[in-house]
Amino acid sequence: MKIAVLGAAGGIGQPLSLLLKNQLPKGSELSLYDVAPSTPGVAVDLSHIPTNVSVEGFTGDEGLVKAVSGASVVVIPAGMARKPGMDRSDLFKFNANIVKGLVEAVAKHAPKACIAIITNPVNTMVPLAAEVLKKAGCYDKKRLFGVTMLDTLRAETFWADATNSCRCSAKVPVIGGHSGTTILPLFSQAEGYEKLSADQIEKLTLHVQNAGTEVVEAKGSGSATLSMAAAGARFALAIVRGLSGEENVVEPAYVESETGYASFFAQPLLLGTEGVKEYLPIGKLSSFEENALNGMLDILKKDIQQGVDFVNNN
Ligand code: NAD
Ligand code: LMR
Repeated sequence: MKIAVLGAAGGIGQPLSLLLKNQLPKGSELSLYDVAPSTPGVAVDLSHIPTNVSVEGFTGDEGLVKAVSGASVVVIPAGMARKPGMDRSDLFKFNANIVKGLVEAVAKHAPKACIAIITNPVNTMVPLAAEVLKKAGCYDKKRLFGVTMLDTLRAETFWADATNSCRCSAKVPVIGGHSGTTILPLFSQAEGYEKLSADQIEKLTLHVQNAGTEVVEAKGSGSATLSMAAAGARFALAIVRGLSGEENVVEPAYVESETGYASFFAQPLLLGTEGVKEYLPIGKLSSFEENALNGMLDILKKDIQQGVDFVNNN
C-alpha cells in the first residue's frame, strides 16, 4: 500500500514520516511531498532506517503527481501554523488554496485515496476538500477525514492524570470539531467519571479546548508538531489497518456526518476496507455536554459554510 504525506518537510510532516517509516506494515511505500526543496533529502535520511518500508521524496509540480499517483492514503499536514495571538480560523486565508491545490491533485491522480487532513482550520478545510472532490466527480464521504485525533490524545492524557489512572488505557470520546468550543470531550463516558466534581469536569474540558493554544504560547512560534505527529500516525495507521481488512478498528475523525448536528462532525468511526465502515453513535451526553454541544453548532456550521463557499464562489 502506498501512503503519501503532503507537507512532509514541515514541523509535523517530518516526525510523522519518521513514525510511519517505523510503523507501517512491511512492504508499504511511503511517498513524501513538500514545496520545500529539501524533501528528497528528508526521504534519503529516512531511507537509512532499516524497516521494510520504501521511501521516496518529491518536490515541484511533477513531483506532486509522482507523490500521489496510486496512493491509497494521503495525509495532508501542509500549510501555515498559528503564532501567538492567532485563532485557527486566521489560517484560512493562507491555507485554503494550499489544501485546494493538493486535493485537486489527489482527485486527478489518486481518486480513490482516503484523504486525512491535518491542516487548519480543520473545521473548514474538510468541507472545502469535499467540494473540490465533488467538482472532480470523485467525492466519497467515507474516504475523507479531518484529523481530530490530537484532541483525543489530550483528553485521554489529562483524564488519566486527573483520575490517577493509566495514561495508556484511558478512553475519552471527543466530538464536534477542532477549534475552541467545537472540541467537546465526553468525560461522562470515561471510566471514573463519578470521582470528579462538575467543577473539575468543566476545567478539564476547557483544558482540552485550549490545549493547542497552550502549545502555541509555550513555543512562541509554531504549534503542536510532535504530539500531532503521534496523533497523525495513529490515525493514518488505523486507516491502513482498516483498508487491509483488520476488524474492529475504531478511531474518531471529523467527517461528513449522519448525526444531524452539523453536516460535518467529529465522531467515533469504525474503519474498514472502504474507509468508514460505520458511523458510530456519540452515546449519552451529560447535561453539561448537551449544553456545550448546542452552544457550538452555530460556530461549526459557519466554519463549514466558509469552506463550501470558497470552492463554489471562486
Ligand atoms: P510547518 O510550517 O512546520 O510545516 C508546513 C509545511 O507545509 C512546510 O514544510 C511547507 O513547506 C509545507 N507546504 C506549504 N505549502 C505547501 C504546498 N502547497 N504543498 C506541500 N507542502 C506545502 O507547519 P506545521 O507545524 O507542520 O503545521 C502544519 C499545519 O497543521 C498547520 O496548518 C497547523 O495549524 C496544522 N495542525 C493541525 C493539527 C490538528 O490537530 N489537526 C495539529 C497541529 C497543527
Ligand atoms: C492543535 O490543536 O494543537 C492544532 O490545531 C494547532 C493549533 O493551532 O492549535
